[in-house]
Amino acid sequence: MSMPVAAATDSPASRGRAARGLFIVLEGPEGSGKTTQVGRLVAWLATLGIPTLRVREPGGTAAGEEIRRVLLDSGHVPPRAELLLLLAARAILVEEKIRPALEAGTVVVADRYTLSSLAYQGYGRGLGAERVEELDDFATGGLRPDLTVLLDVPVEVGEARRRAAGLVDDRIEQAGREFHRRVVEAYRLLAQSRPDVVVVDGTGPVDEVERAVRRLLTRAFPETFPCGEG
Ligand SMILES: Nc1ncnc2c1ncn2[C@@H]1O[C@H](COP(=O)(O)OP(=O)(O)OP(=O)(O)O)[C@@H](O)[C@H]1O
Ligand SMILES: [Mg+2]
Repeated sequence: MSMPVAAATDSPASRGRAARGLFIVLEGPEGSGKTTQVGRLVAWLATLGIPTLRVREPGGTAAGEEIRRVLLDSGHVPPRAELLLLLAARAILVEEKIRPALEAGTVVVADRYTLSSLAYQGYGRGLGAERVEELDDFATGGLRPDLTVLLDVPVEVGEARRRAAGLVDDRIEQAGREFHRRVVEAYRLLAQSRPDVVVVDGTGPVDEVERAVRRLLTRAFPETFPCGEG
């Protein structure tokens, strides 16, 4: 874990952070705990008095939430259309919310971003990670996260959690176990080749995962999180 964090600290994307805020993304398969940990992280940042913007994908803007509805509640959406809709929502979110917040020095915490498209559409749907990355780069105008935290859980763990919570599957979640296995594997593979993605074991209790995320952030960005692990 220490190597990717060190690399992230030195990456061009993270230089000059103080002047342009910080862009942190939580990623992972269905039921991995993204929304839970985004909530914990945002609450922690609030106690530290750090200005924070929380966003979720797809959605996060009025038009983006409309696109989310089309994506998750429709019948069949062809994979290429699914990708383009997701990227359209992301393009709006970046321009309307994320970029202005970063320019104002805010810490932006996102529930999914580019890595989701690479894992779900690139690998899961078989559109190809390279092509997805190229289109994503166009959609975001090249805006990349300073750090992406991947909450790694096996498909079965995510399923069991969602079942226990009585959550109803949307269109993408209904895509089947094989699809979701590909997604989990893709996330792991993508993390290996990307210095700005750090893997956290998401199978432990919520508090334990939260501590791991805090530890990671205080190590990677000591000037933003000077209070240690709080
Ligand atoms: N570490 C954990 N241990 C046990 N249960 C957890 C843990 N983290 C989250 N949960 C529970 O699992 C369920 C799914 O968590 P959460 O909604 O945070 O995941 P998610 O990654 O956002 O899922 P989705 O991809 O469906 O949005 C929730 O009921 C949540 O309370
Ligand atoms: Mg969620």
